[in-house]
Amino acid sequence: MKVAIAGYSGLIGSALVRTLEEKEVRVVRITRNHLYGEASSLTDLIGGCEVVINLAGAPLIKRWTKSNRKQIYDSRILSTRALVHAVSTMEAPPALFVNASGVGIYEDKGIFTESNALLSGGFIGKLCQDWEREASAVEDHCRLVIFRLGVVLDRQGGALSRLLPFFRAGLGGRIGNGRQYFPWVHLSDVIRAFLFVMEDKRCHGVYNLSAPQVINNIQFTRALAGVLKRPALIPVPAFVLSLLFGKGSQVLTSGQGVLPQRLTEQGFSFHFPDINLAFKDLLQT
Ligand SMILES: NC(=O)c1ccc[n+]([C@@H]2O[C@H](COP(=O)([O-])OP(=O)(O)OC[C@H]3O[C@@H](n4cnc5c(N)ncnc54)[C@H](OP(=O)(O)O)[C@@H]3O)[C@@H](O)[C@H]2O)c1
Repeated sequence: MKVAIAGYSGLIGSALVRTLEEKEVRVVRITRNHLYGEASSLTDLIGGCEVVINLAGAPLIKRWTKSNRKQIYDSRILSTRALVHAVSTMEAPPALFVNASGVGIYEDKGIFTESNALLSGGFIGKLCQDWEREASAVEDHCRLVIFRLGVVLDRQGGALSRLLPFFRAGLGGRIGNGRQYFPWVHLSDVIRAFLFVMEDKRCHGVYNLSAPQVINNIQFTRALAGVLKRPALIPVPAFVLSLLFGKGSQVLTSGQGVLPQRLTEQGFSFHFPDINLAFKDLLQT
């Protein structure tokens, strides 16, 4: 089997490449040059691949200046457009296209499934809606799966690796008032979900990919401090984050309540459905 991946060097991409290569799957790495270069070179590169996975996107946690917002937006929309265009011109398109999206597509009040949701009109909400719309154009050519990802937890990258030094030093604490939801998912469950939709050909459409346990930032903070056996008494005030990241701080000070209803109904089981289990695995083994 041959699988092409854009965003292969990121947190999810590098874990996915490792897992697929361990299973002797041939992985084709789609670079930025391919995404933004000659259309034919991208088509040639992904020719013969059964699966195309799109994980490309510039980091969100930064000041949302006009130019940063453009980079955040374009890196997702233009890369998806290029990949969908490439697939649409292939004589033998792949069987499956998997695109990333985020739970930031939802409003931050209420608990949502894929079928019972309010979509956010904020910058991230609209970005995810446009991103998913770009990806959905591929459905004329192959099966499409869109994963709305929660915050992916791993020891070596992403949000947790950035929080760990503070918590280890006893300087961790809730963010803002801490009542905002914290939609999280263990990296190994993310990789298992990608393999699941590759194997089960009935899977198509939008899937929430966050753990089936809705917690808020206070519960997240307590669990992390508890596993590390450190105090976490120092809250990080929302205004400090706002000074650092401007409106980009919303990624940290708000959060969505999300349930992975479709994955669960289709028989996917999370190895880490509970935040304490996830932290024990990530931090004590
Ligand atoms: N991790 C999470 O908690 C989470 C949650 C929700 C949604 N997502 C989405 O899922 C996707 C993968 O997440 P991740 O955590 O693996 O992301 P990541 O670690 O930040 O990696 C992003 C990937 O995108 C590439 N990239 C960065 N800027 C780019 C640009 N301007 N044009 C094209 N490619 C670019 C990076 O390649 P370089 O090595 O060349 O920089 C890297 O391979 C992202 O789109 C992210 O928004 C992630």
